[in-house]
Amino acid sequence: YFSTPDEKPLAGVKTLVTAGPTHEALDPVRYIANHSSGKQGYAIAKAMQQLGADVTLVSGPTKLSPPQGVNFISITSAEEMLAACQNAMPSDIAICAAAVADWRVAEPSKQKIKKKNNTEAPTLSFIQNPDILATLSQSGPNRPGLVIGFAAETEHVTENAVSKRERKGCDWILANDVSPATGTFGGDENTLFLIDKNGVNPWHKMTKDAAAKKLSKRIADHLTLNA
Ligand code: CTP
Ligand code: CA
Repeated sequence: YFSTPDEKPLAGVKTLVTAGPTHEALDPVRYIANHSSGKQGYAIAKAMQQLGADVTLVSGPTKLSPPQGVNFISITSAEEMLAACQNAMPSDIAICAAAVADWRVAEPSKQKIKKKNNTEAPTLSFIQNPDILATLSQSGPNRPGLVIGFAAETEHVTENAVSKRERKGCDWILANDVSPATGTFGGDENTLFLIDKNGVNPWHKMTKDAAAKKLSKRIADHLTLNA
Protein backbone atom coordinates (compact mmCIF):
# COMPACT_ATOMS: atom_id res chain seq x y z
CA TYR A 1 0.00 0.00 0.00
CA PHE A 2 1.50 3.29 -1.10
CA SER A 3 0.08 6.62 -0.14
CA THR A 4 -0.19 9.04 -3.02
CA PRO A 5 -0.30 12.83 -2.64
CA ASP A 6 -3.92 12.80 -3.82
CA GLU A 7 -5.03 11.01 -0.67
CA LYS A 8 -4.09 14.10 1.38
CA PRO A 9 -5.12 16.92 -0.95
CA LEU A 10 -5.54 19.25 2.05
CA ALA A 11 -2.11 18.57 3.58
CA GLY A 12 -0.96 21.63 5.50
CA VAL A 13 -4.22 23.55 4.96
CA LYS A 14 -5.16 25.30 8.20
CA THR A 15 -8.86 24.87 8.89
CA LEU A 16 -11.04 26.26 11.65
CA VAL A 17 -14.35 24.51 12.35
CA THR A 18 -16.97 25.68 14.85
CA ALA A 19 -19.52 23.20 16.16
CA GLY A 20 -22.22 22.56 18.71
CA PRO A 21 -24.49 24.92 20.59
CA THR A 22 -23.39 27.69 22.89
CA HIS A 23 -24.66 28.04 26.44
CA GLU A 24 -25.53 31.51 27.65
CA ALA A 25 -25.64 31.96 31.41
CA LEU A 26 -28.64 33.43 33.23
CA ASP A 27 -26.95 32.99 36.59
CA PRO A 28 -24.26 30.59 37.94
CA VAL A 29 -26.57 27.56 37.68
CA ARG A 30 -28.80 28.23 34.65
CA TYR A 31 -28.32 28.80 30.95
CA ILE A 32 -30.09 29.15 27.62
CA ALA A 33 -29.10 26.75 24.85
CA ASN A 34 -30.45 25.03 21.73
CA HIS A 35 -30.83 21.51 20.33
CA SER A 36 -27.62 21.40 18.28
CA SER A 37 -25.85 18.04 18.74
CA GLY A 38 -22.55 19.11 17.16
CA LYS A 39 -22.64 16.04 14.86
CA GLN A 40 -22.32 17.89 11.55
CA GLY A 41 -19.44 20.10 12.71
CA TYR A 42 -17.54 17.18 14.28
CA ALA A 43 -18.01 15.13 11.10
CA ILE A 44 -16.60 18.03 9.05
CA ALA A 45 -13.60 18.41 11.36
CA LYS A 46 -12.92 14.68 10.98
CA ALA A 47 -13.38 14.63 7.19
CA MET A 48 -11.09 17.64 6.72
CA GLN A 49 -8.46 16.05 8.99
CA GLN A 50 -8.65 12.82 7.00
CA LEU A 51 -7.84 14.74 3.82
CA GLY A 52 -4.74 16.07 5.57
CA ALA A 53 -5.94 19.46 6.85
CA ASP A 54 -4.55 20.93 10.06
CA VAL A 55 -7.87 21.27 11.90
CA THR A 56 -8.83 23.33 14.93
CA LEU A 57 -12.30 22.46 16.24
CA VAL A 58 -13.87 25.10 18.49
CA SER A 59 -16.87 23.49 20.12
CA GLY A 60 -19.63 24.34 22.51
CA PRO A 61 -20.91 21.71 24.97
CA THR A 62 -21.81 18.40 23.24
CA LYS A 63 -21.93 14.71 24.13
CA LEU A 64 -19.40 13.85 21.40
CA SER A 65 -15.71 13.00 21.73
CA PRO A 66 -13.33 15.13 19.69
CA PRO A 67 -12.13 13.42 16.49
CA GLN A 68 -8.59 12.03 16.64
CA GLY A 69 -5.82 14.26 15.36
CA VAL A 70 -7.83 17.47 15.68
CA ASN A 71 -6.77 20.44 17.82
CA PHE A 72 -9.81 20.65 20.12
CA ILE A 73 -10.87 23.81 21.93
CA SER A 74 -13.84 23.60 24.24
CA ILE A 75 -15.82 26.75 24.96
CA THR A 76 -19.19 27.55 26.53
CA SER A 77 -20.57 30.88 25.35
CA ALA A 78 -20.70 32.75 22.03
CA GLU A 79 -18.23 35.35 23.29
CA GLU A 80 -15.78 32.58 24.21
CA MET A 81 -16.30 30.97 20.80
CA LEU A 82 -15.47 34.24 19.04
CA ALA A 83 -12.31 34.73 21.14
CA ALA A 84 -11.17 31.13 20.43
CA CYS A 85 -11.81 31.60 16.70
CA GLN A 86 -9.87 34.85 16.60
CA ASN A 87 -7.02 33.07 18.40
CA ALA A 88 -7.04 30.44 15.66
CA MET A 89 -6.43 33.07 12.98
CA PRO A 90 -4.80 33.22 10.50
CA SER A 91 -6.41 30.20 8.92
CA ASP A 92 -6.82 29.16 5.29
CA ILE A 93 -10.40 27.96 5.72
CA ALA A 94 -13.15 28.65 8.26
CA ILE A 95 -16.26 26.48 8.48
CA CYS A 96 -18.90 27.75 10.91
CA ALA A 97 -21.20 24.86 11.75
CA ALA A 98 -21.97 25.97 15.31
CA ALA A 99 -25.51 26.85 16.36
CA VAL A 100 -24.40 30.01 18.13
CA ALA A 101 -27.00 31.49 20.46
CA ASP A 102 -28.21 34.70 18.84
CA TRP A 103 -28.79 36.41 22.18
CA ARG A 104 -27.42 36.37 25.69
CA VAL A 105 -28.83 37.80 28.87
CA ALA A 106 -27.67 41.40 29.14
CA GLU A 107 -26.58 41.11 32.75
CA PRO A 108 -26.34 37.54 34.05
CA SER A 109 -26.92 37.46 37.80
CA LYS A 110 -23.74 36.83 39.83
CA GLN A 111 -25.79 34.83 42.33
CA LYS A 112 -28.48 32.25 41.74
CA ILE A 113 -31.76 34.05 41.04
CA LYS A 114 -34.11 33.21 43.93
CA LYS A 115 -37.88 32.93 44.02
CA LYS A 116 -37.90 34.65 47.43
CA ASN A 117 -41.47 35.55 48.28
CA ASN A 118 -42.14 36.75 44.80
CA THR A 119 -45.13 35.51 42.98
CA GLU A 120 -43.87 37.10 39.79
CA ALA A 121 -41.45 35.40 37.41
CA PRO A 122 -38.24 37.29 36.60
CA THR A 123 -38.02 39.30 33.39
CA LEU A 124 -34.89 38.69 31.34
CA SER A 125 -33.47 41.25 29.01
CA PHE A 126 -31.33 40.10 26.10
CA ILE A 127 -28.59 41.53 23.92
CA GLN A 128 -27.32 40.17 20.62
CA ASN A 129 -24.22 37.97 20.53
CA PRO A 130 -21.32 38.64 18.18
CA ASP A 131 -21.77 37.03 14.76
CA ILE A 132 -18.71 34.81 14.42
CA LEU A 133 -19.27 33.88 10.77
CA ALA A 134 -19.78 37.53 9.76
CA THR A 135 -16.77 38.63 11.83
CA LEU A 136 -14.49 36.05 10.17
CA SER A 137 -15.95 36.81 6.71
CA GLN A 138 -15.28 40.51 7.10
CA SER A 139 -11.91 40.31 8.87
CA GLY A 140 -9.87 42.15 6.23
CA PRO A 141 -6.32 41.04 5.41
CA ASN A 142 -6.53 38.20 7.95
CA ARG A 143 -9.64 36.76 6.33
CA PRO A 144 -9.47 33.05 5.53
CA GLY A 145 -9.45 32.48 1.76
CA LEU A 146 -12.58 30.33 2.01
CA VAL A 147 -15.28 31.01 4.61
CA ILE A 148 -18.22 28.63 4.82
CA GLY A 149 -21.35 28.95 6.92
CA PHE A 150 -24.55 27.06 7.51
CA ALA A 151 -28.05 28.46 7.37
CA ALA A 152 -30.53 26.81 9.68
CA GLU A 153 -33.96 27.56 8.27
CA THR A 154 -37.47 26.29 8.94
CA GLU A 155 -39.11 27.98 5.91
CA HIS A 156 -38.08 29.58 2.57
CA VAL A 157 -34.86 27.60 3.01
CA THR A 158 -32.90 28.51 -0.13
CA GLU A 159 -34.22 32.08 -0.44
CA ASN A 160 -33.26 32.86 3.16
CA ALA A 161 -29.87 31.22 2.72
CA VAL A 162 -29.03 33.14 -0.46
CA SER A 163 -29.61 36.45 1.32
CA LYS A 164 -27.81 35.18 4.43
CA ARG A 165 -24.69 34.46 2.31
CA GLU A 166 -24.69 38.02 1.01
CA ARG A 167 -25.39 39.58 4.40
CA LYS A 168 -22.61 37.69 6.16
CA GLY A 169 -20.04 38.04 3.37
CA CYS A 170 -19.07 34.36 3.42
CA ASP A 171 -18.16 32.40 0.28
CA TRP A 172 -20.37 29.34 0.61
CA ILE A 173 -23.45 28.58 2.67
CA LEU A 174 -24.86 25.16 3.34
CA ALA A 175 -28.58 25.66 3.78
CA ASN A 176 -30.18 23.22 6.13
CA ASP A 177 -33.90 22.59 6.59
CA VAL A 178 -34.25 22.28 10.37
CA SER A 179 -38.04 22.23 10.59
CA PRO A 180 -38.99 19.63 13.24
CA ALA A 181 -40.47 17.22 10.67
CA THR A 182 -37.03 16.72 9.06
CA GLY A 183 -35.45 15.47 12.32
CA THR A 184 -32.24 17.32 11.44
CA PHE A 185 -31.43 18.62 14.91
CA GLY A 186 -29.86 15.72 16.77
CA GLY A 187 -30.52 13.32 13.89
CA ASP A 188 -27.94 11.62 11.66
CA GLU A 189 -29.08 12.98 8.30
CA ASN A 190 -29.17 16.36 6.59
CA THR A 191 -30.84 17.68 3.47
CA LEU A 192 -28.51 20.45 2.33
CA PHE A 193 -28.19 22.98 -0.46
CA LEU A 194 -24.76 24.39 -1.23
CA ILE A 195 -24.99 28.04 -2.17
CA ASP A 196 -22.05 29.87 -3.71
CA LYS A 197 -21.72 32.94 -5.90
CA ASN A 198 -23.06 30.95 -8.86
CA GLY A 199 -26.29 29.82 -7.22
CA VAL A 200 -27.97 26.93 -5.46
CA ASN A 201 -26.81 23.28 -5.70
CA PRO A 202 -29.18 20.79 -4.04
CA TRP A 203 -27.55 17.79 -2.35
CA HIS A 204 -29.45 14.57 -1.84
CA LYS A 205 -30.51 13.70 1.68
CA MET A 206 -27.50 11.97 3.23
CA THR A 207 -25.86 11.21 6.55
CA LYS A 208 -23.98 14.01 8.27
CA ASP A 209 -20.79 11.97 7.75
CA ALA A 210 -21.44 11.71 4.02
CA ALA A 211 -22.23 15.43 3.81
CA ALA A 212 -18.97 16.19 5.64
CA LYS A 213 -16.99 14.06 3.17
CA LYS A 214 -18.75 15.65 0.20
CA LEU A 215 -18.00 19.13 1.51
CA SER A 216 -14.34 18.29 2.21
CA LYS A 217 -13.92 16.83 -1.26
CA ARG A 218 -15.50 19.94 -2.80
CA ILE A 219 -13.14 22.15 -0.79
CA ALA A 220 -10.14 20.12 -1.98
CA ASP A 221 -11.33 20.41 -5.61
CA HIS A 222 -11.88 24.16 -5.17
CA LEU A 223 -8.35 24.68 -3.80
CA THR A 224 -6.87 22.61 -6.62
CA LEU A 225 -8.75 24.61 -9.25
CA ASN A 226 -7.68 27.88 -7.64
CA ALA A 227 -4.06 26.85 -7.01
N1 CTP B 1 -23.38 32.23 13.26
C1 CTP B 1 -22.28 32.69 13.94
N2 CTP B 1 -22.45 33.51 15.02
C2 CTP B 1 -23.68 33.88 15.41
C3 CTP B 1 -24.82 33.41 14.72
C4 CTP B 1 -24.63 32.57 13.64
O1 CTP B 1 -21.15 32.35 13.58
N3 CTP B 1 -23.80 34.68 16.47
C5 CTP B 1 -23.16 31.39 12.08
C6 CTP B 1 -23.60 29.95 12.22
O2 CTP B 1 -22.55 29.15 12.67
C7 CTP B 1 -23.99 29.61 10.79
C8 CTP B 1 -24.46 30.94 10.22
O3 CTP B 1 -23.92 31.94 11.06
O4 CTP B 1 -22.88 29.21 10.04
C9 CTP B 1 -25.92 31.13 10.12
O5 CTP B 1 -26.55 30.88 11.35
P1 CTP B 1 -28.09 31.10 11.46
O6 CTP B 1 -28.52 30.92 12.86
O7 CTP B 1 -28.76 30.29 10.38
O8 CTP B 1 -28.21 32.62 10.98
P2 CTP B 1 -28.37 33.99 11.75
O9 CTP B 1 -27.51 34.99 11.05
O10 CTP B 1 -28.13 33.83 13.21
O11 CTP B 1 -29.87 34.39 11.45
P3 CTP B 1 -31.26 33.77 12.02
O12 CTP B 1 -30.93 32.83 13.16
O13 CTP B 1 -32.02 34.96 12.42
O14 CTP B 1 -31.86 33.04 10.84
CA1 CA C 1 -29.14 32.25 14.50
